[in-house]
Amino acid sequence: MRQAGRYLPEYREIRAKTDFISLCKNPKLACQVSRQPVDIVGVDAAIIFSDILIPLEPMGFKLTIEEGIGPRLPNALGDNIKTLSNLRAVDPDQSLDFVGEAISLLKAELPDEIPVIGFAGAPWTLATYAIEGKTGKTFETSKKWLFCEPEAFQELLNKLVEVVAQHLALQIRSGASVVQLFDSWAGALTPTDFQRVALPAAAKVFKRLKEICKEPYYGIYFPKGAYASVNEFPTSFENQLVDGIGIDWGTPLDQARKKLSNRFCLQGNLDPAQLFASPEVVREKTKEMLEIMRDKDGNFRNAIANLGHGVLPKTPVASVKAFVETVKSYG
Ligand code: CP3
Repeated sequence: MRQAGRYLPEYREIRAKTDFISLCKNPKLACQVSRQPVDIVGVDAAIIFSDILIPLEPMGFKLTIEEGIGPRLPNALGDNIKTLSNLRAVDPDQSLDFVGEAISLLKAELPDEIPVIGFAGAPWTLATYAIEGKTGKTFETSKKWLFCEPEAFQELLNKLVEVVAQHLALQIRSGASVVQLFDSWAGALTPTDFQRVALPAAAKVFKRLKEICKEPYYGIYFPKGAYASVNEFPTSFENQLVDGIGIDWGTPLDQARKKLSNRFCLQGNLDPAQLFASPEVVREKTKEMLEIMRDKDGNFRNAIANLGHGVLPKTPVASVKAFVETVKSYG
């Protein structure tokens, strides 16, 4: 889940003094913000503070992310496929070194038992930002590429596969032991198009990562809104390409478990809006989720308790704590 952020007063305090992108690029501050959910709400893994859009900058996109406005890429590709050739190859060691540095700092500061989670956007999701220049609604310009310029669209996806795989490798080298690939707009495609285009591109990232990364790591894929395609995951990610699947809050966890058997660790999936309820109700709903996560023997093997998407900005901190405490104390 997105676990740092605006719901924490301690985050807002740091953010008041700097813009979001500068915060991501300042390893000391990024490390400090990444620690907040560990220190304040007690989660047992730290996700590095960054954004899926950060690697688009060195590819040649201008990027701003402002509160209340969201991400904006003023020189997005739009419907001009000729602009594709302007995109630059990225050497993450050169242009995304601040992410690596923030992870190294974080790893050094945290106790050994708290793993650091690295992440990136999946190619389809990043392509929508590169084309639309903001969070899509109908994703019609991206789909125009997909349907009218399939070769150019594939070329864009392939460029993103390489950047993302290299970026994840950098994060693992710097100390991340888990990497999560966010396909936040998987559900904007029909299941057929998701399976034909987005899923193979995500699988290519994990394949490429296996080739270039020699350190051990766990990989998690989070395809939001792609429940209709879960049957495809075992084949797409054969040979242990991916260890876990993030299950979004709209997907019934028990059915996902049935369809995926024990081949993947499942991470899920309380509705983030459920945290607007009182801490008592949050505890109850969290326990209901945990009961579904038990395996046949009554254990919690192969499961990661989480929200089914990021913490919403206005969420009461007490409810986030109630969620985390319930998970940690549940037998
Ligand atoms: O600790 C953490 O939560 C890790 C940091 C993290 C952020 N973004 C920080 C952030 C992570 C894992 C992300 C991933 C991300 N970013 C995704 C994939 C996950 C998902 O939520 O589906 C996507 C689609 C983005 C793109 C993005 N970044 C959007 C759409 C927005 C605007 C959101 C909003 O509510 O305004 C951002 C900005 C952003 N990324 C914020 C944070 C903490 C808010 C920025 C602020 O402080 O103003």
